[in-house]
Amino acid sequence: MSTPVRLDKYLADMGIGTRSKVKEYIRKGRVKVDGKVIKEPDLKLNALNSQVYFDSQKIEYEAVKYYMLNKPAGVVSATVDSNCKTAVELIEDGKRKDLFPVGRLDKDTEGLLLITNDGALAHRLLSPKWHVEKVYYARIRGRITEEDIKKFETGLKLEENFTTLPARLTILGAGEESVVEITIYEGKFHQIKRMFEAVGKEVVYLKRLSMGDLRLDETLPPGNYRRLTGEEIRRLKGNE
Ligand code: URA
Repeated sequence: MSTPVRLDKYLADMGIGTRSKVKEYIRKGRVKVDGKVIKEPDLKLNALNSQVYFDSQKIEYEAVKYYMLNKPAGVVSATVDSNCKTAVELIEDGKRKDLFPVGRLDKDTEGLLLITNDGALAHRLLSPKWHVEKVYYARIRGRITEEDIKKFETGLKLEENFTTLPARLTILGAGEESVVEITIYEGKFHQIKRMFEAVGKEVVYLKRLSMGDLRLDETLPPGNYRRLTGEEIRRLKGNE
């Protein structure tokens, strides 16, 4: 048995369109449930047993899942770990055994972590080919200078064969610690910490704010999560 769900919510959750767009599609007769055209957006259906079609496309409910986690410090970005609590263990979804985090945040890094079972999307977001933009908020020991900003803009040599792509560094506050926002287009191991190390500075706090079009919902306290909205899924997949 599954809880009944409204037809418009079903389709919006599955990324077909915003709630209002989906209502429009339903009223236009583009949606069939169990072989019949349904024009009532508030029809309640059993999400697991109903056959839902949008035009000729079969819509599988919950075939894929997407969660936004505000990762707390102390949790590792993994599915299982013999010593530490993992990001996936924070998601209470009894049905799913195939969830994984998209990319890695260090154990002490907080912020946006996408958890899904959509391998194709994860592959695209992580592929070095796509240079997906990632924005972080950081506190840095020491004063960030204009010269540092230029070095980040030019690219920093972190390894013999690896120089970073141009990164944008914005100073939000200066004092004993500098508060910055940094935008990078790669995801090498400890990349941001190593970039600051390369200019003689130390990251004391790091939080990811966004990945591609997905922005951390600041109403989520660390350790909390929520499902992505249909709109967020659509934008992440690049079909707004
Ligand atoms: N860069 C880092 O150094 N650590 C992270 O967790 C993410 C990016």
